[in-house]
Amino acid sequence: MRRASSWSTGIPAIEPPMRFDVVTLFPELFAPHLAHGITRRAFESAQVELKLWPLRDFADGGYRRVDDRPFGGGPGMVMLAEPLQRALDAVRGDRVDVPEVVHFTPTGRVLDQSLVLAMAGGPGAVLLCGRYEGVDQRFLDRNVTLEISLGDYVLSGGELPALVLLDAVARLQQGVLKPDSHQQDSFSDGLLEGPAYSRPERWHTPEGERPVPAVLLSGHHGEIAAWRRRRALETTARRRPDLIAAARAAGRLSRDDEGHLATLGL
Ligand SMILES: C[S@@+](CC[C@H](N)C(=O)[O-])C[C@H]1O[C@@H](n2cnc3c(N)ncnc32)[C@H](O)[C@@H]1O
Repeated sequence: MRRASSWSTGIPAIEPPMRFDVVTLFPELFAPHLAHGITRRAFESAQVELKLWPLRDFADGGYRRVDDRPFGGGPGMVMLAEPLQRALDAVRGDRVDVPEVVHFTPTGRVLDQSLVLAMAGGPGAVLLCGRYEGVDQRFLDRNVTLEISLGDYVLSGGELPALVLLDAVARLQQGVLKPDSHQQDSFSDGLLEGPAYSRPERWHTPEGERPVPAVLLSGHHGEIAAWRRRRALETTARRRPDLIAAARAAGRLSRDDEGHLATLGL
């Protein structure tokens, strides 16, 4: 019986700093997403180790059943507790630590950058990907330590949420991005990022010329930083006033910031 397939394709890690074990009915969904782009570096260098545990390998009988009808009636199927427990026990037996056990569900805590940062600094976790109408509650009550939602909508499975978390965590690992490049990302200082521009300096379009804001071509780092801060404040105030309120409450807005918001009536 196949147990886990390790997807750290590069150098084998002796004791990786971070390890994620994913229990899923669809392990094949993971490799294509993690084999490309900048996050690939984190997995290939084995900074982050990923082990995939195909749930069907832990199911009984010829049909390798992992779901059944809900007691009490209702539409859809429910994931069975016993195959999930066998898979999780196998993961636990394969790790030296006691990992956080994450279940992805629309009823969980909504994923945000503060949770990503906390996980990026931790030892990793077991990620349980639901399917069908959900998971037998007795398994969840017995094992799960954290429930994460991607947002207020319903997906068909927990694999995309798991990939989203893995991507967000991997890009924060040292050496994956250029130093301090993620410190300019949205949410890193509690604000949304302002606009970005690249070549050409003047873009000729049918409705006219669109130049890059002159300050960005000035070479004056102080003025560029101040301009970026003001744009970030404006974007955040218009789109996410809740984040401005939170930054204010946390004392993260300077007198200049407040002055700029006041001139905009925001
Ligand atoms: C069709 S959904 C089940 C939805 C469930 N019946 C409900 O209404 O809450 C199947 C699986 O997709 C995953 N899923 C769906 N939406 C999600 C979301 N917004 N966040 C995290 N996981 C989600 C969960 O693992 C869930 O068990």
